[in-house]
Order: sequence, then structure tokens, then C-alpha cells
Amino acid sequence: MATVVIDTDPGTDDAIALIMALNSPELDIRGLTTVGGNARLTHTTANALRLLDRLGRPRIPVAAGASRPLRGAYEYGYGFHGSGGLTIPLRPVDGGPHALRAAEFIIDAGASVGPDLTLIALGPLTNVAHALQRRPELTMQLREIVVMGGAFEAGNVTPYAEFNIFNDPAAANVVFSSGVPITLIGLDLGRQVAFGKDQQDWAEGDTVGEQLAAEIVREWFDLHPDLPSYDLCDPLTLAGVIEPGLFRYTQAEVTVATTGPRTGETRAVFGSGPVKVATGVDVDAARALVIDRLKTPEA
Ligand code: BDR
Ligand code: CA
Repeated sequence: MATVVIDTDPGTDDAIALIMALNSPELDIRGLTTVGGNARLTHTTANALRLLDRLGRPRIPVAAGASRPLRGAYEYGYGFHGSGGLTIPLRPVDGGPHALRAAEFIIDAGASVGPDLTLIALGPLTNVAHALQRRPELTMQLREIVVMGGAFEAGNVTPYAEFNIFNDPAAANVVFSSGVPITLIGLDLGRQVAFGKDQQDWAEGDTVGEQLAAEIVREWFDLHPDLPSYDLCDPLTLAGVIEPGLFRYTQAEVTVATTGPRTGETRAVFGSGPVKVATGVDVDAARALVIDRLKTPEA
């Protein structure tokens, strides 16, 4: 079993990845940490708390993190993910976030779990970079950081850059050069694993997880009537933690452009290096795994 902290900016596909995580016996979830990205930090934190509540897991702690990147400001994704960062409203909760901020929460988890803690990063890498900068020993306590980020073919924010990396390229460089083993699952693969508007398999099922995912995706298609499919970037990253054998990988040195028109571009020198770049995936098996893990097991 992997002991994990999930750093996230929910976000519709983050929400689906969180449903999967909660339904996966392979994962011991120590907590969620939130970051600005798809929406403002206040929204991503409220969404994380409300998602856990709706999914019947309100005791999992949520630690709020960065509201801005190492430099500059985030460009939010409200147009893509919906107002409030999600396509559907969720019931407000009584409780608030954890007393520790995200970076401190990660440091604390590293000290208590290390060297077996896996960080799953589904948003801009600001919180992870803050934690590594504040506590260098953390590098010895992390088994791995599994990152959704980067594009080697074409970006989604600019022709060069993927959203998470674009939103904090300096933090990405801190993380990729930290010495911690990194697995990078990028947009090139995320775009291959999707829910089609005309497919019904993602809309079936009556458990709380399946119903919530179906509501989010159905509303997403209503928000984007011209788009035929919904890419499963963050859910695919969860699949990479649960079932790493579904992917092919190539080791690389990865750096990120931090200035100019190519800001956020991930550049890889393949051959050796600390970053295990996912370069191929069994698309059908990964998609089937995503659908399987939407199902909330009976208590
Ligand atoms: C990534 O950016 C966000 O919109 C998604 O949540 C995902 O983490 C895809 O580029
Ligand atoms: Ca995300």
C-alpha cells in the first residue's frame, strides 16, 4: 500500500481523481493539500472539503496552501472547469481546513511517514516547492512525487506549455531538480484517455462516487457543447500511482522555461536523469481502471 498526500486544485478532473483515490485500497491517504490553479485557493480548498463531505470521508484533513506561485500570479481555469472551479455546486460544510498550511502539512507527513511517503501533485507545484525549500531533509523522506504536468508535443495554455507547469514554472524546476524520484504524467498521454460525449459507460452506476463523477462530466459537456470528449489528465495520474505497469517510461532530465513566449515549456533530455517520464500508456486499460475506481465500495 502507498501512503500518500494528494496536492490538488479541484477542478473537475481533480475531483474525479479524488473519487478514484478514495475508492482505491492500494492508497492510504494521509491528507489533501490545496493550491490555487484551476480556481482561486479559496475555491479549491472549499471544493476539496465539500468533495470529501459528499463522498462520506470528511475526516481526511485538507490543508490549504499557496494562493500565488513562486513568482507572479496564477491564471485560473474557470472558463474550462466552471464557476467556482467545478461544473456543479456542492453543499457547504461546517468545518474548515487543517491548522497547518499545505507546505507544513507535507513536511509533517514526511517526518512521520518517511521514507515511504508518495506525493501526488495534480496542480501547480508551488506547495511542493515550498515544502522542499523549507525542509531539505524532505528529499530523503519522499519515496516519489507523481506529477500531472508537462507537454512534449503541444501545450493547452500556449502551444508550448501545459496548465500546471505554466502556472508555476519556477516551482516545477525546484521539484524536478530536488533529487526526489519524479514520475511525470503529462498532457500527451492525458489527451489519449478521455470520456466521450457519446459514450455512456462513465455515466452508469449508482454509487456516490459514480453519480458525482457523472454529474460533473455531464455538466462539463453542457458547458462546452462543441467539445466531443473530456480528457482525464488527473485521473490518469492516479492510475499511474495505482497501476504503474500500465505505462511505459523513459528516464530524463527535465527543465522548464521560466521566461519568454515559451514559459512553461517542459524540455527533456531523454536517456538518464531523475524524472521518469511516462511516454506510453495502455489506453483501454487505463480508461477501464478510471471507470472502475469511480465506484464507491459498500461500507
Ligand atoms: C491539468 O490542468 C488542469 O486544468 C487539470 O486539473 C490538470 O491538472 C491539465 O493540463
Ligand atoms: Ca488539476
